[in-house]
Amino acid sequence: MDRIAIVGGARLNGSIPISGAKNSAIKLMAASLLTDEPLRLTNMPRLADTRFLGHLLTRLGTMVDDRDTETGPETILHTPEIVSSFAPYDLVRQMRASFNVLGPLIARTGHAKVSLPGGCTIGARPVDLHLQALEALGAKIDLHEGYVYATAPRGLQGAEITFPFVSVGATEHAMLAAVLAKGVTTLKVSACEPEIIDLADCLNKMGARVEGAGTPTITITGVDKLHGTTHAVITDRIEAGTYAVAAAMAGGEVRLTNTRADLIEALLQKIEEAGAEVERLNDGVIIRRNGARLKAVDVDTGVYPGFATDLQAQFMALMTLADGESVIRETIFENRFMHAPELARLGADITVSGGEARVKGVEKLEGAQVMATDLRASVSLVIAGLVASGETVVGRVYHLDRGFERLEEKLGACGANVRRIKGEPSADADFED
Ligand code: UD1
Repeated sequence: MDRIAIVGGARLNGSIPISGAKNSAIKLMAASLLTDEPLRLTNMPRLADTRFLGHLLTRLGTMVDDRDTETGPETILHTPEIVSSFAPYDLVRQMRASFNVLGPLIARTGHAKVSLPGGCTIGARPVDLHLQALEALGAKIDLHEGYVYATAPRGLQGAEITFPFVSVGATEHAMLAAVLAKGVTTLKVSACEPEIIDLADCLNKMGARVEGAGTPTITITGVDKLHGTTHAVITDRIEAGTYAVAAAMAGGEVRLTNTRADLIEALLQKIEEAGAEVERLNDGVIIRRNGARLKAVDVDTGVYPGFATDLQAQFMALMTLADGESVIRETIFENRFMHAPELARLGADITVSGGEARVKGVEKLEGAQVMATDLRASVSLVIAGLVASGETVVGRVYHLDRGFERLEEKLGACGANVRRIKGEPSADADFED
């Protein structure tokens, strides 16, 4: 397994181009199953997760063509026919979002057998809301031996669905199924994340009729057929936020391009409160910090436009060196502080109790060997490594490769001393979110 080694101490100066959003790209890829015409996705991130979903889609009948063009990486997905409606355990276990092929498969063929994803390291993460939404749309769902058997021989029917709480995945899954249902579907208590708007935009370009995406109530008027289109994947706000935190941590001046400050506003305000400077531009954002120690600030994660849970680990790394005590409350996932003991190995002072972590700022961090435990946790260790004295070596970086494209290159271009140590590929890497 590869490792990442960081020698701390360098300030970051330069520009980092932000890639297309992983969390959007994988739902858009699933949407390609809804039409027999090609869907061309531009601004595609090249990540383990997108490759991985590409493998699953290929088994289902999709031709997946990755191209590097003058305007950037793109992927053309074309499913003239669904050749299999079966998504096996091994493929769904490794990446939960693979489960999102269920809705499109039912919508297009009237039946599917898809493995349940199982629990994961950041919590139980059930899919009950996904299944309830599909049932409300008229799918008959049976669970046997870890698999969902779904049928809708006469097609799906529009319905009014009120989610008991906000779920990004369930909102997207219901949208993916409802676009081809007969009649009108109303989704209440929907997630408002930017990736939901991106999915709705793409589906509408394919001929769907989705209104209200980005608000809690989404209305979908079913159509008989969708067609191909070209769609640019929205910028990855989590990648942008991660490098914003890295710049605030290491000091210097970093310009993030190909992104939007408004998508990470909750984070940018916290970075400003902590004492770094933020300049919002039309096509990105600049983060500056020169010398002065950061102040401790408290953070509660929340649904969009709140502070993203996917940036919580990174912000915790930032607070390890701040002046004072920061209280970080995780409200989305029940087990998302696995990075805390790893940060403690670098010298951080963190006490976790339930969904709350208290981070007492220390004077300095010291490089050590640490282990990535999940996708976002792993990058928090890299951020801490940027300022730790000596060398920090992060193991299990396959987690990182799932969500961060060319991380060493992007940080290295700004002066960070980061290198990859090649290792044997892991036969049993556990992926998830
Ligand atoms: C997505 C993102 C993930 C992000 C999360 C919250 C992708 C691939 N992943 O995950 O990076 O951290 O949104 O912004 O887009 N829940 C249930 N039953 C369900 C579904 C969810 O109880 O059927 C719970 C989850 O366990 C969690 C909460 O609802 O506690 C929110 O999860 P959800 O918004 O669905 O997150 P994901 O879509 O899995």
